[in-house]
Amino acid sequence: ERKEYLRADDDWNKYILIHSKLIKERIWGPKLVVEKSCEVDLVTETDQQIEKLLISSLQKQFPDHKFIGEESVADGAKCELTVSPTWIIDPVDGTMNFVHGYPNVCVSVALWVDKEPQLAIVYNPVLEQLFTARRGEGAFLNGSRIHASKETELSKCLLGVEFGTSRDQEKMAVVMHNINKLVPLVHGLRSSGSAALNMALTAIGGTDANYEFGIHAWDVAAGALLVEEAGGVILDTTGGKFDVLSRRYLCAGTQTVADQIVKIIKQYSPDRD
Ligand code: IPD
Repeated sequence: ERKEYLRADDDWNKYILIHSKLIKERIWGPKLVVEKSCEVDLVTETDQQIEKLLISSLQKQFPDHKFIGEESVADGAKCELTVSPTWIIDPVDGTMNFVHGYPNVCVSVALWVDKEPQLAIVYNPVLEQLFTARRGEGAFLNGSRIHASKETELSKCLLGVEFGTSRDQEKMAVVMHNINKLVPLVHGLRSSGSAALNMALTAIGGTDANYEFGIHAWDVAAGALLVEEAGGVILDTTGGKFDVLSRRYLCAGTQTVADQIVKIIKQYSPDRD
C-alpha cells in the first residue's frame, strides 16, 4: 500500500517545475555571486531563493518531513539523514555552469525514507530535461522510459568525470591521476559540471559510467535512484555499497564496467557529510 507522500507526486513535481523557472529566467542575466569554501565553490542568490521556496512549499505539504538542503547546510543546518522521510535538495546543481551561462544546470530533489531513495527528480529548466524516478517503477526523461548502457567493455565506454569544487591539492592529484590513467583506455571522457546531470547521463546511456570524489549528499541523492531505476548500478568508488553521506560514488550501466573502473582508479576519502 502506498503511503501519503508517495501519492502526492503531482504536487511535489509542480513545486520543482515552478521554482526552477528562476534558473531559466536568470541564467544569462546579472547575478550576485559569492565564494563559499574556495574560489571555485560558488553560490548565487538564485541557489538560496530556490532552496527556500522549495523547502517552504514542501514543508506545507509534508509538515513531518525533514530536509537536507545545500544552502541550509552552508548556513549551519545539520546534514543528518535518519529513517524519517527526508527531502535532499540541491537547488542549483552546476552552480559554476549557471554563473557562466553554460546551460548544463539543474534542480535535484530526492525523497529518502528509511535511508533509501524513494523519489527522484532532476530538472534542467533551460534545456527542459525532466528526469524522474520512483523506486521500483523505472526512470524517465520527459515521461519516456530511459535505460542505462549495457556495455561491458571499458575500452568501448564514454565516461563522465568531474574536477569538483575544491582546490585541495591531495584531491586534485587523485583526480588528475585517474583521468590520466583512464583516458587511453576508453572511447572518451566528458565533464558536464553537474553531478546530478552526470548521473542522469548515465541513466540515459549517454555515458556508460561516471564517478566523483568530493560530492555531497544533495548532488547525488536523486541521481542515484535515476541510475538504479534505469537498470544501472550505484556503488562506492571502492566497489562497495553506496553511502550517500560518504562524498564519493561510482555509477555505471553494468557491474562489469564498474568493476573495471574500480581496479584502475586511485581512491580518495573526503570528510563525510
Ligand atoms: C557541484 C557540481 C559539480 C561537482 C561538484 C558539486 P553545485 O555541485 O555537481 O559537477 O563536480 O562536486 O559540488 O555546487 O553546483 O551544487
